[in-house]
Parts: sequence; C-alpha cells; structure tokens
Amino acid sequence: MNNPSIISNPAGLKTLFQEELNETYHSIYGAYQESKHVFIASGLHYFWEHEKPISTSILEIGFGTGLNAMLSLLEAREHKLAINYHSYETLPLSYSLVQALEYQQYWSEQNEQDFKKMHECEWDKSVKITNNFELLKINKSILNTAPESHYHLIYFDAFAPNKQAELWSEEVFKSMFNSLYPGGILVTYTAKGEVRRTLKSVGFEVERIDGPPGKRHMLRARKPQ
Ligand SMILES: C[S@@+](CC[C@H](N)C(=O)[O-])C[C@H]1O[C@@H](n2cnc3c(N)ncnc32)[C@H](O)[C@@H]1O
Repeated sequence: MNNPSIISNPAGLKTLFQEELNETYHSIYGAYQESKHVFIASGLHYFWEHEKPISTSILEIGFGTGLNAMLSLLEAREHKLAINYHSYETLPLSYSLVQALEYQQYWSEQNEQDFKKMHECEWDKSVKITNNFELLKINKSILNTAPESHYHLIYFDAFAPNKQAELWSEEVFKSMFNSLYPGGILVTYTAKGEVRRTLKSVGFEVERIDGPPGKRHMLRARKPQ
C-alpha cells in the first residue's frame, strides 16, 4: 500500500486517508474523540476499574499514527500504572507525516517529545519510552503471525471489515482469543453483526456498547475466566 494522504473533516480536524482502500484511519468525527472513547474509556479504563492491575499488557492491531499508543502512555503517566504495549503494523508512517495531523493540540510540548520518540524508535525492539511505558512496534502482518506474548487488553483497530475482511476472520480472532489472559478484553470500534458473531464463535462473551461520536455502537469482547 502507498502512503496515505491528509484530509480534513468539516470541523477542520485532520485524519489520514488510504486511497487504495478508500478508507480513513479514524472516524471523520474526530480521531482523538474516537480513540478516547473506544480504546481508552471503553477498554483501558474499563479494564483498570474491574481488575485493578499494577501493570497492563496491551496488544494493538494497527499502530498507524500512534494515537492510541500515545493516549495510553498519557494514561499510564496520569494514573502511575505501568503499560507494556505491543503494536503490529505493516505500513510504518513517518513522524513528519503524523506531525501534520496536529495531534500536538491534545498534549504538551514535553509529551510531544515522547510521541516523537515512539515514532522514531526502532521497530521490532522493545523500547522504554517513559518510566512506565514500554513499546514494542512489530513490523509484521497480523495475518502471518500469532502473537508470542499474552495480553490483558487488545485494541483491535484494523481498517473496516468491508475494506479488509481478511483481518476480521475467525482465524485472526482465534489468535486474538488465544493471546489474551483469561478475563482479558478486546475492544473495537465497529458493532457489525458479522464481527459480533465471529467473536462469539471463537469463545468471546460480546457486549454491544455506546459508540464514539457519529457511531451508535461499538463492541467489547471478554475472554471468560
Ligand atoms: C484504522 S488504521 C489504525 C489507526 C491506528 N490505531 C492509529 O491510532 O492511528 C489501521 C492500521 O492497520 C494497519 N494494517 C493494515 N493491514 C495490517 C496487517 N495485516 N497487520 C497489521 N497492521 C495492518 C494499517 O497500515 C493501518 O495503520
């Protein structure tokens, strides 16, 4: 796939557009708002409220702009909880492209240095970005690899099921299920019936919950204890 281009929504918020798939990286209602609702509030906060862990291991499918990773880092800092974050990505983006999306408006200049470090650090090597946030960016397709570690939480942030159906398959969800600890959570922005059924078919308990701005619902799936 080629590098994406930058587009703006009617409110002037920017996102990336992948022409080959005719698909944006985030909701046109706002990347930050979507990421905060789907992955942070419905995933990370929910997990923390229920499990009260000292340390959380997270797997992300699709590092993309690094927004989910950065918002997780900020949460780790605010709540003084450790996060070990692994993220798969087939098309790494440059920091200069991501910088043009103006996410700096959501954090301080000092935090922007952490965001830069996230983008510029080596792939396929675990790197300490801050005292309590360790990042491993994996430059591989999730289709050819089963994750080697175990996780408390999965941010499933692939392109939409009608654009990249192969990523929403029973095989991939089986591998997600196997890589979660019992009680582990997977969150994703879609509430499509087919995705819900596939998640259930591999063993997840699935809830349809309120979605981010512009979307009625999203899914949260749990691996039974
Ligand atoms: C919806 S975007 C993710 C946005 C990202 N989480 C963020 O915060 O910016 C989907 C991402 O999945 C990546 N991707 C596509 N196919 C993949 C694959 N087979 N394995 C891993 N990542 C893939 C894309 O390159 C893209 O960055």
